[in-house]
Amino acid sequence: MSFDLTTPVNTALLLYILYTVQRILFPSNSVPSTVPIEFKSGYSWMPKSHPPTLLFKTYTPKTLEPFNGEEGKRILLAIKGVVYDVTAGRNFYGPNGMYANFAGRDASRGMAKQSFDVEMLTPIDQPLDKLEDLTSEEIESMKGWMDHFSSKYIVCGRLVENDAT
Ligand code: HEM
Repeated sequence: MSFDLTTPVNTALLLYILYTVQRILFPSNSVPSTVPIEFKSGYSWMPKSHPPTLLFKTYTPKTLEPFNGEEGKRILLAIKGVVYDVTAGRNFYGPNGMYANFAGRDASRGMAKQSFDVEMLTPIDQPLDKLEDLTSEEIESMKGWMDHFSSKYIVCGRLVENDAT
């Protein structure tokens, strides 16, 4: 049986083989006309929007307080002057969370005394809690929490007195 190029099927087959060989030998490296914005296939992926930026800032008890996670907003809390962005722990600190009292507040005393009672919090219009009455055990407990928070969340600021900014 001979390979008859005059038949349309064989001509089409030959053209297809030539095209395939050409694609293998000279792969296209042109830039795609549209930039992919989400995962579809292959490895081209970009997020739909830029993630929110996080600036290291100085907070006071009053400016920290709005970051209590209400209406889906960010959640910050402070321990011994260090402000952590705990938004990722919304289940813990969000409005219905077990530790919601700490959201937007100086949580130092509660972390030291292992208590999330509201009495652990200093009213936001008063000077920062000096923590001078804490026992060494309580200070260790607070530092343990700071290690936990530093390894899990982003440090995004420091907490100073209301009149210091
Ligand atoms: C009633 C007793 C308590 C129970 C059953 C409890 C339970 C838990 C559980 C299950 C976790 C999650 C652990 C994980 O997934 O890593 C957790 C984390 C935590 N607990 Fe408690 N807890 C209790 C009391 C307290 C108290 C009194 C405090 C006060 C400081 C506290 C502060 C925390 C904090 C700060 C976290 C870490 C959350 C995070 O990683 O962002 N817990 N607790």
